[in-house]
Amino acid sequence: MNPSQSLPPSYFDALYQTDPDPWKFATSDYEAEKYAATIAALPKPNYRSALEIGGSIGVLTQKLATSCDSVLSIDVSKAAQVQAIQRCQQTPHVRFALMNFPHEYPPEIFDLILVSEVGYYWCYEDLRIAQQRMFELLEPGGHLLLVHWLPRSPGYPLTGHEVHDSFLEFVPNKIRHLQAQQNPKYRLDLFERMSEKY
Ligand SMILES: C[S@@+](CC[C@H](N)C(=O)[O-])C[C@H]1O[C@@H](n2cnc3c(N)ncnc32)[C@H](O)[C@@H]1O
Repeated sequence: MNPSQSLPPSYFDALYQTDPDPWKFATSDYEAEKYAATIAALPKPNYRSALEIGGSIGVLTQKLATSCDSVLSIDVSKAAQVQAIQRCQQTPHVRFALMNFPHEYPPEIFDLILVSEVGYYWCYEDLRIAQQRMFELLEPGGHLLLVHWLPRSPGYPLTGHEVHDSFLEFVPNKIRHLQAQQNPKYRLDLFERMSEKY
């Protein structure tokens, strides 16, 4: 794999076709604890409209939905999203769309964007485009929550640290850093879009 290119949709479809839950999202205690920490890190009890980038098979989506009036969960993998739609069929306020972010993105504004375990699949150039796009999709005062695995994974263009550190460079004039948590295996950072015009 070429680290100067984002991982393509075919990479993820092949993974889900080999194993419907390749990261054991539905069964792993580690994921369950991380998901609980992710939801607990949200500063507000309720959000009007959340965007989840890389929603996968919908395990975290379901949990996120309990704190939101509306959730749009996007993913590049149809094989993953078919499972997510099935998993979330009792939560009609969750919508789904197949999108290759940041090159495809929804025509709406959100007060929460969740990026959990997806940023290191982008090459650095796409990460920069994604940051700008997220900033534009987030309403002033809206929250952006990042959660990523830290050890380097072979074949991934970036590491979790590189993704989070790159968002910190955005902080001074566009987003305010509200919270940082570091676990031995993952890192969580919460940002708020500043209200001023830039
Ligand atoms: C490791 S899973 C993370 C799932 C979920 N967010 C979580 O934390 O449990 C990463 C997901 O991101 C999706 N993905 C990768 N690149 C993407 C992109 N450019 N746009 C949208 N989704 C993407 C993959 O298809 C995969 O389902």
